[in-house]
Amino acid sequence: MSELPLPRHVAIIMDGNGRWAKQHKIKVALGHRKGVETLRAIIRESSDLGIEALSLYAFSTENWRRSPEEVSALMGLLLEFFSSEIDELDEKNVCIRILGDKEGMPPAQREALINAEKRTGKNTGLKLNIAINYGGRAELARAARRLAEKAVKGEIRPEDIDEDALSRELYTAGLPDVDLLIRTSGEMRLSNFLLYQCAYAEFDFPTVLWPDFDLNAYHEALRAYQHRDRRFGGRNS
Ligand code: IPE
Ligand code: IPE
Ligand code: MG
Repeated sequence: MSELPLPRHVAIIMDGNGRWAKQHKIKVALGHRKGVETLRAIIRESSDLGIEALSLYAFSTENWRRSPEEVSALMGLLLEFFSSEIDELDEKNVCIRILGDKEGMPPAQREALINAEKRTGKNTGLKLNIAINYGGRAELARAARRLAEKAVKGEIRPEDIDEDALSRELYTAGLPDVDLLIRTSGEMRLSNFLLYQCAYAEFDFPTVLWPDFDLNAYHEALRAYQHRDRRFGGRNS
């Protein structure tokens, strides 16, 4: 990795588990299981590289539309992930935050998510955000609702509602905006992920499927980011 600055905040849409399973003629659940291995490696590497924040899209509000078998396989993997990884993540000083509606999750999963946040909340290393039952539009509607509630209670004046006030009501409150958004599998869309936070993100769409996204592929995306010319509407000379 060159000396050029790394992104402060990397967001990843982990896509392609289904196609990977199909390619290997195995059940989709096994594709997701393989995807969890990739996720472990990418979290570890992000922490080792000193990246400040990593946001992973694990389950969208639209993913409930999948078959009950697939949804239940994903819910099972979620529990497995937290019970097998929490010790190591805590040891690595990783601070876990869940982006999304925990209330809409089944009780066991909800409890695991709340425990993970509680247990690692004071850690000062990698800020690991896992988006589960997450939708960008739902997040924005929730922020508007919370601001309206504050206004009704007289805690905030409508004229004080600016970009900062709105961003403080998002799940990502206090985190820097996304610098680099990676979506694997060649799909080039946001699928309702971090709509507000990606306003000036650099996008990278590697064609590799998520289970095959290895450290080389991750480094390549980071290197490509380091050579992007970010202008934020201004001019760089
Ligand atoms: C991404 O892989 C994982 C989740 C959405 C949970 P997909 O399951 O969407 O994989 P494809 O897009 O069908 O290949
Ligand atoms: C986005 O992927 C959600 C996650 C990776 C968790 P999808 O595979 O669900 O998105 P679409 O349906 O292709 O847009
Ligand atoms: Mg997909």
